[in-house]
Amino acid sequence: MTVLTTARLRLEPMADAHFEGLRVMNADPEVMRYILGRPETPEETRHMIERVQARWARCGYAWWTFIERETGVVAGAGCLQNLRRQPAPEPDPTCPIEIGWRLRRDRWGRGLATEAAQAMAIYAFDVLKTDPLLACCEPANTASSHVMSKLGMHCRGLETWYGRELATYEVSAATWRATAQPKRTA
Ligand SMILES: CC(C)(COP(=O)(O)OP(=O)(O)OC[C@H]1O[C@@H](n2cnc3c(N)ncnc32)[C@H](O)[C@@H]1OP(=O)(O)O)[C@@H](O)C(=O)NCCC(=O)NCCS
Repeated sequence: MTVLTTARLRLEPMADAHFEGLRVMNADPEVMRYILGRPETPEETRHMIERVQARWARCGYAWWTFIERETGVVAGAGCLQNLRRQPAPEPDPTCPIEIGWRLRRDRWGRGLATEAAQAMAIYAFDVLKTDPLLACCEPANTASSHVMSKLGMHCRGLETWYGRELATYEVSAATWRATAQPKRTA
């Protein structure tokens, strides 16, 4: 399990110690608006941590918790995981890898999602040898698609993932390497 470090964040593989911070973030209806469409319950947060820990052991990639280095606060979470076509709980290893993110609402607008995403993308391309890297969001989720664009991703259009029609973005390893990206942070 790999810890990634950026200027302002430590990305730690999701662990029981992050429960309270993740519970608070995932209980915010604004954070979950385009994800579940409702707040996550504490039980769901706990089960997610359990599933993610098993996935780290099985796959070597899953969800990280973003810890603000200055304060120790859980500022967000992000993932590298195989997509799935249906809303079943576990990723489909035959599907491409997506990158994802969410932040506590009071941490929006500081560039933290893009900062964390760049570190996760480096891990995807350099360690996992992912190619291409995908990202999906509800078409109305412009805050998330903006992060995708800043990562150098382009939109392939609407595709069905998780049983939903999602705006699907990709960036190839070659494009990623050719595009000016910050120096390695991990
Ligand atoms: C999607 C989400 C993570 C985006 O968060 P965000 O804070 O808007 O994204 P960023 O980290 O890229 O920060 C964006 C803004 O921070 C501002 N900012 C402030 N300080 C900054 C800094 N030091 N560096 C960079 N940007 C900074 C910039 O204005 C930037 O906007 P710009 O690129 O238009 O100039 C957030 O809206 C969220 O958690 N949404 C709910 C969960 C969700 O929907 N997740 C995605 C599911 S697909």
